[in-house]
Amino acid sequence: KITPVLMAGGSGTRLWPVSRKSFPKQFAHLTGDETLFQASARRLSGADFAAPIVMTNADFRFIVAEQLDQIGQEPGAIVIEPSGRNTAPAILAAALMVVQDDPDRLLLVAPSDHVIPDAQAFRAAVKAGSGPARAGKIVTFGITPDRPETGYGYLELDGDAGTGAVRPLKRFVEKPDAGRAAEMLEAGDFLWNAGIFLFSAATMIAAFRDHAPQYLDGVEAALAEAKTDLGFLRLSPQPWNALPDESIDYAVMEKADNLAVVRFDGRWSDLGGWDAVWREAQADRPAERGVVTDVHSTAIDCDNVLIRSEQDDMQIVGIGLRDVMVVATNDAVLVADMNRAQDVRQAVTALKGRG
Ligand code: GDD
Ligand code: MG
Repeated sequence: KITPVLMAGGSGTRLWPVSRKSFPKQFAHLTGDETLFQASARRLSGADFAAPIVMTNADFRFIVAEQLDQIGQEPGAIVIEPSGRNTAPAILAAALMVVQDDPDRLLLVAPSDHVIPDAQAFRAAVKAGSGPARAGKIVTFGITPDRPETGYGYLELDGDAGTGAVRPLKRFVEKPDAGRAAEMLEAGDFLWNAGIFLFSAATMIAAFRDHAPQYLDGVEAALAEAKTDLGFLRLSPQPWNALPDESIDYAVMEKADNLAVVRFDGRWSDLGGWDAVWREAQADRPAERGVVTDVHSTAIDCDNVLIRSEQDDMQIVGIGLRDVMVVATNDAVLVADMNRAQDVRQAVTALKGRG
């Protein structure tokens, strides 16, 4: 069986005002009936999967427990990181937790804030990657790119490799600048990194030993001195807080030479902003003139507009708008140009100063 490792420690500032520091996007109802976290947990359940390890922090621990309970899932472990040190140490901690029991245990690291509507197709892609993962590869999942996105990692396919579902990777390039991204899109033999990784515990620990050994002692100590508290595993703060803050993409993936990729052709979105939420809503239910509203909102004579009220008792009406998004919660309203979705994180920075 494969153990899912759900990454649920991020903050998702570009989806303000629904995504908040104390309640980030993975726990919110953004599309569909379940939260993104619940949909992610459910996607990685069933006969091929063991109970998930959830990597999170103290603020979110009860939300994680409650949201799993709501969908009838028992966690394998809910691990509390004393501070956000990005994904590298969190992933190493998960690998170290299982390695003694079973060094060949496969782990599937997945963000908890993505939209992948076709769960069955996704599980088939995971299955395709498990052979190579068992044989010592770190398997990535590749998405066919359609724009020169600079917020993703890029996977360079090894052109000479044989055909088949799983292919070796020549290179992993994390978050290129705009020029480099355009070149890679043009070149054609690149896929986007979906941010999902499949590997055995022993393989990942070996990769850290080779490429990021500075993490080993600290993460081992944080685990050795961890405390169990109401069923949560609290990593020890002192060694943990001293760890470098780096993503797995930079710490390991860009340096590893045992990477493989499974191409995933289903729909995938990391909901990186309100424009992505708007695109997803249209994919579900093609919107006339790109207008997406919720039950509390009305759009008259609008084009390419998202209007969303999180409040049952607040109606929003837009008239004659073009390329605009409006999102209202009980204490904040966002009104922005649809093409400036990425700049919403600036709002969060600006508001921080005002307490
Ligand atoms: N537990 C924990 N602790 N989770 C974390 C932490 C942390 O300190 N930091 C981030 N995460 C979670 C986020 O909530 C998210 O689910 C996942 O880890 C990835 O982090 P992001 O910060 O969202 O990464 P990214 O989107 O910039 O880039 C990654 O994902 C892209 C696809 O969405 C990279 O893997 C890219 O290469 C990839 O293209
Ligand atoms: Mg992300």
